[in-house]
Amino acid sequence: MTKKSKSGSSKNRSGRFSEPVTGLTKRFTASLDFDKRLAPYDIRASVAHARMLNAVGILSAKDFAAIQNGMKQINGEIASGKFPWQLELEDVHINIESRLIALVGDAGKRLHTARSRNDQVATDVRLYLRSAIDEISKLIKAAQNALLDLAEKHAATVMPGFTHLQVAQPVTFGHHLLAYFEMLKRDSERLTDCRRRVNQLPLGSAALAGTSYPIDRMQVAKELGFDGLCENSLDAVSDRDFAVEFTACAALIMTHLSRFSEELILWMNPGFGFVEIADRFCTGSSIMPQKKNPDVAELLRGKTGRVNGHLVALLTLMKAQPLAYNKDNQEDKEPLFDTVDTVVNSLKIFAEMLPGIRVNREAMRKMATQGHATATDLADYLAKKGLPFRDAHEAVAKAVRFAVKRGCDLSELKLNELRQFSKLIGKDVYPVLSLEGSIKSRSHVGGTAPKQVKAAILRARKQLG
Ligand code: ARG
Repeated sequence: MTKKSKSGSSKNRSGRFSEPVTGLTKRFTASLDFDKRLAPYDIRASVAHARMLNAVGILSAKDFAAIQNGMKQINGEIASGKFPWQLELEDVHINIESRLIALVGDAGKRLHTARSRNDQVATDVRLYLRSAIDEISKLIKAAQNALLDLAEKHAATVMPGFTHLQVAQPVTFGHHLLAYFEMLKRDSERLTDCRRRVNQLPLGSAALAGTSYPIDRMQVAKELGFDGLCENSLDAVSDRDFAVEFTACAALIMTHLSRFSEELILWMNPGFGFVEIADRFCTGSSIMPQKKNPDVAELLRGKTGRVNGHLVALLTLMKAQPLAYNKDNQEDKEPLFDTVDTVVNSLKIFAEMLPGIRVNREAMRKMATQGHATATDLADYLAKKGLPFRDAHEAVAKAVRFAVKRGCDLSELKLNELRQFSKLIGKDVYPVLSLEGSIKSRSHVGGTAPKQVKAAILRARKQLG
């Protein structure tokens, strides 16, 4: 147990105060319940700080060794759940420091030289977020690989492509899946870019104005793997742009997962009947025995709202905050941590669910034949034979109207029926009007032809390495 100071109930309650805080104030100002998760980063940063203090002659080798040993023990205590956390001690930083002092005495009391909790917490959060970004980047890659595996199986599977959720043109399911691969690719790039700004060291800025000690910030940055230093002490202790930026990246990741989820939910409706999601990702109803609900997809969609909310919370937290550190900033953690947890869990289950998607090729094909999906192909056919595209468009519109009246697809009209709309139409029109013909013809980079889908998958696999 730590010794309590005479004048107050916690270590940052010095002789400056004449009365202890009320229980309510204590609970209201404490962050321990949620910032505990920063402990491993706090310890690493403290050891790096102590090593530097020793290197520049502020701390003796003996004291540094004591701090290092004490921190080792504390690490073990935390890992094994034996650490004596005390809400009295407000946050993770004071808890660890107090325990260190209890373990190693005066050496522990010297650790906080040339440092403040303001630059300490900013450093911890950046270290935490950097490792979260690295984990999320790996999970994005896993989801991308799962998309590629499914796309490979369905490089030639025909489905209706939609605009306005109306049948527009045939596409391949593989091509559709690759659209999500692209979204995740951008997400991954955004995170890599965000990481550069996360990975700058605030430590050394102390409370706000820097410190009078001859510190070596670069040494600390190197030990902790930072790319560089936050270059203005006032900015360093108050900046939370990196958390906002990360949460914006996360909101986009969730947005992408929610778009795919929404499609799965629609496609699982028997009206579409395009896919079945494996039972292990679905749940039943407590009243309707026949139900199989796509709960995982629905929750992925729903959790997007939560991350969007965190983004707005962080932006609002920072809006109009005067320099430098304000206690408001303690409120950065819960939204940030929950964003990380939500994105990590969502990406994991998304990647696991993808191989559990069974495709009903027939249902996809059937809907593709029902919406005159090859009308544009007919217009292109006429335009290639010399008819100006606008006139071709009009001729095909009339042909579609005729087919609608007949209750059949364009491709089911007889040649003489089609020729009422243009004499340029010949027997060679039928492959053009077929789903396969339409798809095969869109053969350029970014097109839906199976050949292009396969090439895109190869490129994608190479990119992922
Ligand atoms: N728990 C605090 C936070 O999360 C640590 C920094 C406290 N600094 C202070 N000057 N009260 O922001």
